[in-house]
Amino acid sequence: MKILVIGSGGREHAIVRRLAADTPAPDLHAAPGNPGIAALATCHDVAVDDLDGQVALARELDPELVVVGPEAPLVAGAADRLREAGFAVFGPSAEAARLEGSKAWAKEVMEAASVPTAMAVSVAAGEEVRPALDRVNPLRDVPFVVKADGLAAGKGVVVTEDLGQAVAHGRAVIGAGGSVVVEEYLDGPEVSLFCISDGERVVPLAPAQDFKRAGEGDTGPNTGGMGAYSPLPWAPAGLEREVLAKVAQPTIDELASRGTPFIGVLYCGLALTARGVRVVEFNARFGDPETQVVLERLASPFGPLLLAAARGDLREAEAPRWHRDAAVTVVLAAGGYPGRARSGHPITGLGAAEATGAHVIQAGTAADEDGTLRSAGGRVLCVVGTGTSLSAARAQALAGVEAIELPGAFHRGDIAERAAEDEAAAAGHEA
Ligand code: AMP
Ligand code: GLY
Repeated sequence: MKILVIGSGGREHAIVRRLAADTPAPDLHAAPGNPGIAALATCHDVAVDDLDGQVALARELDPELVVVGPEAPLVAGAADRLREAGFAVFGPSAEAARLEGSKAWAKEVMEAASVPTAMAVSVAAGEEVRPALDRVNPLRDVPFVVKADGLAAGKGVVVTEDLGQAVAHGRAVIGAGGSVVVEEYLDGPEVSLFCISDGERVVPLAPAQDFKRAGEGDTGPNTGGMGAYSPLPWAPAGLEREVLAKVAQPTIDELASRGTPFIGVLYCGLALTARGVRVVEFNARFGDPETQVVLERLASPFGPLLLAAARGDLREAEAPRWHRDAAVTVVLAAGGYPGRARSGHPITGLGAAEATGAHVIQAGTAADEDGTLRSAGGRVLCVVGTGTSLSAARAQALAGVEAIELPGAFHRGDIAERAAEDEAAAAGHEA
């Protein structure tokens, strides 16, 4: 099977890596790809935002399946354009991708579909930010949550106990021509669950947990994600079934009934609160870096699953099966991230990192003509470790990170730490 993957980040490297592991191995192409992807697929020099170029490339290659990785081209209509040109596309239409592209619209869909989520107020005027915060959080006994309405790569959200900071963020976003959503604070552990849909049916993958804050102990600003792990030994039994019934299927049904079916992956970002599961956010694509750990554990064919969804009948695909082993990924980020990240530094030690048994996913890298690998983004690498326990997987990922040299880079040493400790304690009880 010939497959074209659009994108250039760690998520797309992980997707390509997992597609390459299918048997028979597919003929893989990427646009534009990155140096890590280039080891597994033929890369074509077509940018993520060049929709005309993507259609022209697809016409030239004639792939059986096109997978659109990032949200920006989806929201811009890449899947629509490629479908109009006659290709089977894994990725939602621009209209359906508004679930990610507009937090206000996502709230409206959730309300219509009775999907449990945080109470929210949309605000488009600077002077209305403060009254909205008072309305949503009158007792000021929990943090304030203010979210930019449009795409912000995970960085448009401020969760803070500081009312002044919450007001300032809202006003800044509105002042720059945007609007915000002021939300009720959701307390409880977060879960990312990817739900594959053909527009009608829904198949959940294995849940993962992401670490959004830049600093250890969940401190510092929000990022796109600093690490992830799967499985979640602490998650309640039947979580996937519950999310399917209360969140994913009603949302997919709602979009289908509006005549804008969602074909692709509905990323359900959830909080498991004392009052039950609540949606924190929807995304219209695979999560990054959660994909790195979820796909690492997928034991059943991946390409055929995506193709069946793209063709509109998931019943053609084998139900996902999972390896028992745990996977942990730790992100190596450039100094300055999630602010202005410093790029262009040489990266060495990838061989030594992989000698630990971990593997390295490239997220923000570029190669010089002489082959020197350099940092070219905020999140530069994701090191993925596996093992029979979260502790073992974590140790492997961290050993891999320690083997890599990248001036000024930083990572979180506490990814999956608590879950690994809890898992080890529970195993001790059983023994
Ligand atoms: P989002 O882009 O909406 O996923 O927000 C990014 C991160 O901010 C989430 O993963 C949460 O950690 C945090 N967050 C967002 N909304 C809420 C909320 N209503 N309550 C608590 N934390 C939130
Ligand atoms: N890791 C969070 C996201 O992909 O949005």
